[in-house]
Amino acid sequence: MSKKRPLVIGIAGGSCSGKTSVTHAIYDVFREHSVVVIEQDFYYKNQSHLTFEERLQTNYDHPLAFDNDLLIEHLNRLLNRQAIDKPVYDYVNHTRANEVIHVEPKDVIILEGILVLEDSRLRELMDIKLFVDTDSDLRIIRRIERDIKERGRTIDSVIEQYLTAVRPMHNLFIEPTKRYADVIIPEGGENEVAIDLMVTKIKTILETMTNV
Ligand code: C5P
Repeated sequence: MSKKRPLVIGIAGGSCSGKTSVTHAIYDVFREHSVVVIEQDFYYKNQSHLTFEERLQTNYDHPLAFDNDLLIEHLNRLLNRQAIDKPVYDYVNHTRANEVIHVEPKDVIILEGILVLEDSRLRELMDIKLFVDTDSDLRIIRRIERDIKERGRTIDSVIEQYLTAVRPMHNLFIEPTKRYADVIIPEGGENEVAIDLMVTKIKTILETMTNV
């Protein structure tokens, strides 16, 4: 592992745009090397002091839902080659889980999440900024499937949440961050050309890091 400053790649995009697929595709190439993934979702604010009913009222698509102060503190630790205890998020109970994941510093940090390009403090820490751009009809179809299967929601709650929070917040806060992206990737993980280009770029940067 190099002692140079780690490389930070930010991957933003709407809910179910394919951020995770892009992240995994890049992670798979560099896993032997040295890469860590930080999910902004895991840094949703702790809501254990609220009742379950109160937690259902939270707008999870607003920037204020995230504990970006803790996220930035953890990123700075990783950038200083120090380990962190990454929080774990419980989507069914809408709060932070009790366990944490111990994460050692690595040469590449991938930060992925709907609003990672929205906070200027996060943008300033990034070397490469990506925005995964996928049509909203595809995103809502994927979201219905995922939230019912994996996140304990009903179809009614997914639709209601989409219309009252996900869609308006996407238009207000997520879509405008496209302008900060170095690269806009249409169709996420299925875009092999874009992923190959990113992998080549990251390899070049890593070679420079280890050669200096
Ligand atoms: O994985 P993805 O980027 O879709 O995760 C972000 C989404 O998770 C947000 O659009 C937010 O509405 C949703 N979320 C939720 N319930 C929570 C926390 C986040 O529906 N408790």
